[in-house]
Amino acid sequence: MTRTLFLLPGDGIGPEAMAEVEKLISVMNADENAGFETATGLVGGSAYDEHGQAISEDDMARAMAADAVLFGAVGGPKWDGVPYEARPEAGLLRLRKDMELFANLRPAICYPALADSSSLKRDVVEGLDILIVRELTGGVYFGEPKDIIDLGNGQKRGIDTQVYDTFEIERISGVAFELARTRSNKVCSMEKRNVMKSGVLWNEVVTATHKARYSDVELTHMLADAGGMQLVRWPKQFDVIVTDNLFGDMLSDVAAMLTGSLGMLPSASLGAPNPRSGKRKALYEPVHGSAPDIAGRGIANPIAMIASFAMCLRYSFEMVAEADRLEKAIAGVLDDGLRTADLMSPGMTEVGTAAMGDAVVAKYRALAA
Ligand code: IPM
Ligand code: MG
Repeated sequence: MTRTLFLLPGDGIGPEAMAEVEKLISVMNADENAGFETATGLVGGSAYDEHGQAISEDDMARAMAADAVLFGAVGGPKWDGVPYEARPEAGLLRLRKDMELFANLRPAICYPALADSSSLKRDVVEGLDILIVRELTGGVYFGEPKDIIDLGNGQKRGIDTQVYDTFEIERISGVAFELARTRSNKVCSMEKRNVMKSGVLWNEVVTATHKARYSDVELTHMLADAGGMQLVRWPKQFDVIVTDNLFGDMLSDVAAMLTGSLGMLPSASLGAPNPRSGKRKALYEPVHGSAPDIAGRGIANPIAMIASFAMCLRYSFEMVAEADRLEKAIAGVLDDGLRTADLMSPGMTEVGTAAMGDAVVAKYRALAA
């Protein structure tokens, strides 16, 4: 059995983090006959340098054809001056849009060993396990018109358009309700219905979807600003949060810090199941960015990237036992006191990117025994 993975390490710390996942892939192929076949492409600034665009047509086609895409990070000051259409982020947005990856799952789990690394108090974050379900192919990221127009009087006008259709809200809330049923059976929907028409519709459609198909799940609604406040006040009140593209972007960065470091948060971006094969298009990426300030120094935390691969095992390949084992391996190395610089605290052992990756691989193998 072959399982095809298309790797897009990208820019900054992306390639360093991806290298640690590649170690795991080799070990799984050798030890477990996992049958992963990998190919690597360019995205972001590195693609721009090579092709003059943030992802080439060739690499787009390879991403579309793979069983799953593993994505590192894009962007950096080096590409500040490139045309807007070719900026590094455009590669990621095109992948999301063309692959129709409308459901972005961002679990925020506070590993026991890291409860003191968060900027919040231990009792606030200890044992935290929440899931942000972010709509990923609509809203203000993609709405038209999107432009800067010259008003001719020395003034310009910047325009972005927040737009959501019923079906988009229905399908993302369906994903949130389904996932809630496998967890603590609670969904909190966040929007700004007090100022935005799209928020009014969002609220209506989530409520109707719940009533029609998921009334067994506990549903609450919160204004997104209040939701941000509640996320840092008492995050354990949440199980699944469902929200739009822009609010989901912001709230998931907030949630990342609850877990100790932005370097800890993985994500899965999923499309609808193919009606014939049942398979979903999927892309897995850490929530952290390219961190150009520390790129190339071998100190980046590879855990979010590795945990994204664990999500890939779970959601693209139904390798649930392997995914569980990999997540246990991550928790294990943290329990052993290993920390990359972003997580470092007194009494712990500071390690670099490669040593952290090696430790996770070793633990993963040990757990098989
Ligand atoms: C994220 C990132 C992206 C986003 C950027 C890189 C375009 O912040 O995945 O959260 O805004 O969606
Ligand atoms: Mg973001």
